[in-house]
Amino acid sequence: MHAAVIGATGYTGMLLLRLLDAHPDVSEISAVSSSKPGEPISSEDPGFGSPTVKFSASKGRFITVGEAASRRPDVVFSALPHLASASICAPFFGTSVVIDLSADFRIKDRAVFEQAYGQQPPRPDLLDQAVYGLAEWHTSAIKKADLIANPGCYTTCSLLPLLPLYRKGIIRGRAIINALSGISGAGKKADLKYSLTERAESVWLYSPGRSHRHSQEIEAELGLEAPGTRIVFNPHLVPMKRGMEATIVVDLAPGRTLADAEAAWNESYESRPFARYVGSRVPSSSEVWGSNRCDWSAAELDGSLILSSVLDNLVKGASGQAVQNMNLRFGFAETAGLSIANTF
Ligand SMILES: NC(=O)c1ccc[n+]([C@@H]2O[C@H](COP(=O)([O-])OP(=O)(O)OC[C@H]3O[C@@H](n4cnc5c(N)ncnc54)[C@H](OP(=O)(O)O)[C@@H]3O)[C@@H](O)[C@H]2O)c1
Repeated sequence: MHAAVIGATGYTGMLLLRLLDAHPDVSEISAVSSSKPGEPISSEDPGFGSPTVKFSASKGRFITVGEAASRRPDVVFSALPHLASASICAPFFGTSVVIDLSADFRIKDRAVFEQAYGQQPPRPDLLDQAVYGLAEWHTSAIKKADLIANPGCYTTCSLLPLLPLYRKGIIRGRAIINALSGISGAGKKADLKYSLTERAESVWLYSPGRSHRHSQEIEAELGLEAPGTRIVFNPHLVPMKRGMEATIVVDLAPGRTLADAEAAWNESYESRPFARYVGSRVPSSSEVWGSNRCDWSAAELDGSLILSSVLDNLVKGASGQAVQNMNLRFGFAETAGLSIANTF
């Protein structure tokens, strides 16, 4: 299995290189970089100072998109920004399985995409064949997909607990999602508002209500189970590098209880290693650091549920779920190359 990573110097790209290097079913890796072609991978990550045999075809160096395309990888991970990803991946559509970590193929409705990203989807011709890569939810479609739209981090953290409950009519109405993210969620680019002096000792609600792009993505997926479902989504940046927590408050449908929710989660995720309802004990984001798990707790209060969902934004929220999707697509063990325990 030959895997290529495009945008390999970014946060999710570098993590993909490490995950794939440790993956038992991957034998060759092409690390593609637009900014560092020809430079050693160790110039970005000293951990690759002695690159493994998986990088030997490219002599342990970053290569260009053209070079990677000529090697015809089996799978391509695009760790590029939205609106750049779809066009840069063009040489691989139809020849490799493409797993896109950007938003370019996540939203099928063109008007909704334009509302979120300010322009039409870059490759509307491919939207019908793109499968939304929420690994535990669209498993059978992912197993057959040649284009997988890996979900956003806030989206995964919110959808995994909510989807089974909307599907079974256990909850109703809008969900209020107050979420906290580590700064790496914004990527590696330099920007004053993500600098240590701006973010240390500070919490920032940066796109309240429905103004963050992930709110459209969350509503699009919830709407497939409960049409018209709206959310209030309040994302905050908090002074940590990695990690995410979403506190979700949503009303139970008449006559429904927490026990119904527990039964729905059990039914949906019983055999799935990375989506776990942990009971009433509220998890902290550090418990899932470095792992591919999303854990959540639940409590019932006055006819509502209060959920607390945690994941590592770079792992289950991005690169880990992308590898999980590769595992599903190519028939590998779902856990291959991924950690269930945290990596403290
Ligand atoms: N960070 C997260 O927690 C997270 C979670 C879920 C999804 N995502 C999504 O995953 C994707 C990558 O995120 P990231 O956090 O890894 O971003 P990042 O750290 O900013 O890295 C993106 C990389 O893409 C390449 N790149 C940037 N602009 C480019 C352009 N205009 N043309 C070509 N290449 C360009 C660069 O790599 P080279 O110089 O090597 O080409 C850059 O290092 C984004 O779409 C993001 O929304 C991120």
